Amino acid sequence: TWTMKSFVEASIEAIREKVGDGHVICALSGGVDSSVVAVLLHKAVGPRLHCIFVDNGLLRKGESEAVQRVFRDHFDMNLTVVDAARQFLGRLKGVTDPEEKRKIIGNLFIEIFEREAQRLPNVRYLAQGTLYPDVIESVSFKGPSATIKTHHNVGGLPERMDLELIEPLRELFKDEVRLVGRELGLPERIIMRHPFPGPGLAIRIIGEVTPEKLRVLREADALVMEEMEAAGWYDKVWQAFAVLLPVRSVGVMGDERTYDEVVALRVVESVDAMTADWARIPYELMAGISNRIINEVPGVNRVVYDISSKPPSTIEWE
Ligand code: XMP
Repeated sequence: TWTMKSFVEASIEAIREKVGDGHVICALSGGVDSSVVAVLLHKAVGPRLHCIFVDNGLLRKGESEAVQRVFRDHFDMNLTVVDAARQFLGRLKGVTDPEEKRKIIGNLFIEIFEREAQRLPNVRYLAQGTLYPDVIESVSFKGPSATIKTHHNVGGLPERMDLELIEPLRELFKDEVRLVGRELGLPERIIMRHPFPGPGLAIRIIGEVTPEKLRVLREADALVMEEMEAAGWYDKVWQAFAVLLPVRSVGVMGDERTYDEVVALRVVESVDAMTADWARIPYELMAGISNRIINEVPGVNRVVYDISSKPPSTIEWE
């Protein structure tokens, strides 16, 4: 549209003005916001943009490969992929508290990002996908007592590394970011992608994160995505995902008694994640997802549907 076109042109102009011939780094997550920022910056400064993607081992199935395909192969960007799965899992060992998990993941992310950034030539700027609701939320939830959940981003880094921030999406809402992404030619799969938390699958495994639990949840999550897409429901909801509960229940498989894990299915509608309602998806879709998870994911024998809205619940379980 005309407005998005002029937004893109004005942003590119402003970025060029600010950056001059300097170098910029960007933490790519594969989500809509950081993807749009990366493409916008790439249009503005080309090879002087350096993207870093940290594979923390807490990602969805095939995510790391997809990011490389889109940004390195298709957009031809400078992209460093850091495989840090073992480090993250090592530090998460034995940790069950949700905020503790977030802190560990956020801090290690910063450590790794900082180390990688130091290898790059004279970087002076950090580009970030901060949106308008993030700006509001960090103002209204000031102070640790009022913090509902510590959201993980690269906060803290700019000062430590003496970097100047570039936040071209600061005045936009999510739906506007999607329009900008479309204007920039990002693939529809990225534009319509549901939000995915920085701490990833770690906060969807209630209790301790282990490689085995990650394998189970990653498979269940992939099936949820597949079924939502096949039914034409993926684009109709804000988020859809699986949560692995720290509960086992009894079941039967053939003539055998099973005592396996429980997956909770969470599907919500929302406009800005500040409030949300559980989505009234068709029973047939629920049935399809449940059958596939129980039949195809070893170790799971029960699926339940989350019928809580936000508030008083939150979208994520941790
Ligand atoms: P809650 O669970 O607070 O989530 O209702 C609101 C939205 O934020 C996402 N979320 C996070 N995103 N780091 C993120 O980048 C986090 O630590 C985090 N926690 C929740 C969540 O997926 C939902 O879209």
